[in-house]
Amino acid sequence: SGFGLLSIILSYLVGSIPFGLLLSRKSGIDIRSQGSGNIGATNVTRLLGKKLGALTLLCDAGKGFLPIACLSLCTREPLVLGLAGAATVLGHMFPVYLGFHGGKGVATALGLFLFLDPCAVALALLVFLIALWRTNYVSVASLAASASLPLWIWILRGSSWHIPLALVVMALIWSRHRGNIERLRQGTEKPWKKV
Ligand code: G3P
Repeated sequence: SGFGLLSIILSYLVGSIPFGLLLSRKSGIDIRSQGSGNIGATNVTRLLGKKLGALTLLCDAGKGFLPIACLSLCTREPLVLGLAGAATVLGHMFPVYLGFHGGKGVATALGLFLFLDPCAVALALLVFLIALWRTNYVSVASLAASASLPLWIWILRGSSWHIPLALVVMALIWSRHRGNIERLRQGTEKPWKKV
């Protein structure tokens, strides 16, 4: 339907807003050319500190949360909601405003599923913290948490369409971490806290 298509496009456009880049602009450095080169909260923290990093996390999660929350007030159609949810994450990863060169989607997916399955997200967050604590790599924590999410949704009996959505989002997040995985293999990935 026209309504469905419009909501998917709007979700994509909201997801496309590169908050990390916008928030770091004042600092005068282009986060895309330093650290990991990513536009996400991890790289903003790495380059500009905890305050701006936390703000980036909040905004990127917020843009994952808002479109699906608004759309849920208008429709219960799983196909529309699922495609719009995926579109928000895809927007962050391939933003129209940045020539489709975007981020890795972890914070945006966090916001999206915080709305859909808050309990599953709490467990995935626990996986994230344990993985970060054990390995000292944010990328490993992101990979582990995103992989665990579909499982938590299944165990907690979330709406059946949330599981394929979580699987698609996980696959996207993993594919966006190819560079991180390669660096982890070679032992050149940057640790979270300097040791
Ligand atoms: O969410 C992104 C995180 O998993 C890795 O970020 O900057 O270390 O590539 P970064």
